[in-house]
Amino acid sequence: MSIESVLHENRVFEPSADFVKNANVSGMSAYNALCKEATDDFQGFWAKLARELLVWNKPFTKTLNEDNAPFYKWFEDGELNVSANCLDKHLNTIPNKVAIIFEADDGSVTNVTFKELYHRVCQFANGLKKLNLTVGDRVIIYLPMGIDAVVAMQACARLGLTHSVVFGGFSAKSLNERIIDAGAVAVITSDGQFRGGKALPLKPAVDEGIAMGGCESIKNVVVLKKTGQEITWNQNGNANNIWWHDLIAGQADTCEPVMLSAEHPLFLLYTSGSTGKPKGVQHSSAGYLLHAMNSMRWTFDVKDNDVFWCTADVGWITGHTYVAYGPLAMGVTQVVFEGIPTYPDAGRFWQMIQKHKVSIFYTAPTAIRSLIKASETTASTHPKSYDLSSLRLLGSVGEPINPEAWMWYYENVGGGHCPIVDTFWQTETGGHVITPLPGATSLVPGSCTLPFPGIDIDVVDETGKDVPWGTGGLLVIKKPWPSMIRTIYNDPERYKSSYYPVDLGGKIYLAGDGAVRDAKTGNFTIMGRIDDVLNVSGHRLGTMEIESALVSNPLVAEAAVVGKPHDIKGESVVAYVVLKGQRPEGEELKKIVAQLRDWVGKEIGPIAKPDEIRFGDNLPKTRSGKIMRRLLRSLAKGEEITSDISTLDNPAILDQLKEVVK
Ligand code: WTA
Repeated sequence: MSIESVLHENRVFEPSADFVKNANVSGMSAYNALCKEATDDFQGFWAKLARELLVWNKPFTKTLNEDNAPFYKWFEDGELNVSANCLDKHLNTIPNKVAIIFEADDGSVTNVTFKELYHRVCQFANGLKKLNLTVGDRVIIYLPMGIDAVVAMQACARLGLTHSVVFGGFSAKSLNERIIDAGAVAVITSDGQFRGGKALPLKPAVDEGIAMGGCESIKNVVVLKKTGQEITWNQNGNANNIWWHDLIAGQADTCEPVMLSAEHPLFLLYTSGSTGKPKGVQHSSAGYLLHAMNSMRWTFDVKDNDVFWCTADVGWITGHTYVAYGPLAMGVTQVVFEGIPTYPDAGRFWQMIQKHKVSIFYTAPTAIRSLIKASETTASTHPKSYDLSSLRLLGSVGEPINPEAWMWYYENVGGGHCPIVDTFWQTETGGHVITPLPGATSLVPGSCTLPFPGIDIDVVDETGKDVPWGTGGLLVIKKPWPSMIRTIYNDPERYKSSYYPVDLGGKIYLAGDGAVRDAKTGNFTIMGRIDDVLNVSGHRLGTMEIESALVSNPLVAEAAVVGKPHDIKGESVVAYVVLKGQRPEGEELKKIVAQLRDWVGKEIGPIAKPDEIRFGDNLPKTRSGKIMRRLLRSLAKGEEITSDISTLDNPAILDQLKEVVK
């Protein structure tokens, strides 16, 4: 997206009178009143919400503890259980309401009520208890998208086990690194997973990951029978393998939730940073759930009769907050989808919205862009071929949505009458931090508009000083908020230096994105990451991670990775590689390209495979030996190099690096 185009975007979409009338936050005056309340009495604002929305076993008396900032604590002397807040609380009010409408890859549908889900979670939790797990133990969940993944997460929450979900598309190596970093004691996985009409293996990656070593902490591997494919058994070190169905056989379907401190770590979720290994972002219980619920209420405006569908996998933060926790805690019916948007054809999403009468739909710009493309070629997959009249609200997340895609989504999916909430947030923020509230905010395509009430988010310069509206700078959050990251697991120093850098005074949270506020309205536009993190199809990838994966291949001497704008994925991965020894040509070199792409797929996961690999005798470096990434980015885009390259040590290689080996 070009920032210029958004800054000059003058289309404005006001909420309809009808929407405003019925909205949970009705009109700009209501929005402004909430913001004022938060400014006037910051702690009081959050304390009131926490008392209103959460069910406490023991009420908190202290709202915020800043003694050891930036390691903030919220509601710390309160006690509750997150799973009880998502399930038990509904047993007397809406036991027979459908909690999850699950649609499998093959189109078959299973409905689960809140009461049924409660029993499934309890039964699985009782099974887990047999494995001698104790409160605070870390459990890896490596499961396909589905009811069972939600059950596994909720069962961990019920027992106070800290889960760490690893997306099913990550490799054995990624799994191995996460197991080791988290010191996990168990893995919950399945034999395989269905995607796009195929049964793909999953358990072998667990076996392989554990066999790579360092995973002695894993005592049990629980295996869900999903596809029924052949798997090996007990081939992973000392870990005991047990079927999910055997674990729960004969187990009672009620299980007392363990009451925990508000600050108890609900989960770790690994995400990419600018340097080194992925970081284990640690979230709390009460503060996290509070914001999950409140953003369901204010951003998604959920009502009792809504059918909510967030298309994200539970392997990502969006699937944590807006699938596994937020909708359940709010008692709203949601769709959970196992498959992919293009199977059996690119009309799948629209067909499912029609079939399940979805009223709130939340997806990523990358999905929208790919479906625009598909619908241009086949009329039958165009949203207009479906009855989407049940929709009343649309959402977007994960990356900037370009105004063209926004308009297409608005007109073709939303029929020109559904507001779009373009929600900006991060794994670290736990929930939305900049977003329109649909019954209040005027929408501008390509802008995520205004702060969520209570989130003190702004733009500053490199020294931490405010910049005037209209000037670009660093996106920061100036006050702590309940759903914020608590630390990086095992690495509190990295937490401080990544998010509370001393350059900015050490007291404000650095998001890692560049942003600008509109000079008149104060609307935010996100300008993308300021660090070496790429956003490929809404997934965060560290360039350093991909570089280290490449360099660990025996053929590679040196590698540099940059992002290149991509029509559908937002960004694509371009790798510059220096091979050890003589570089072959023609078919031989093509083979190496294929080998290296596969290698990255194995080291990290298929999402990280470079789209393009280019080779040189060397990489462009300054005389002091620094790789000139800016130059590499220009080369990737095919731009003429007009900048000063006089500091470049070896200008002759630029021509080599222009060539893409296909
Ligand atoms: C980007 C996903 C523009 C941003 C919830 C952020 C966005 C990173 C938006 C976090 C948006 C997310 N507009 N950019 N609406 N939402 N981003 O941790 O660069 O997977 O820092 O969390 O995605 O990605 P993460």
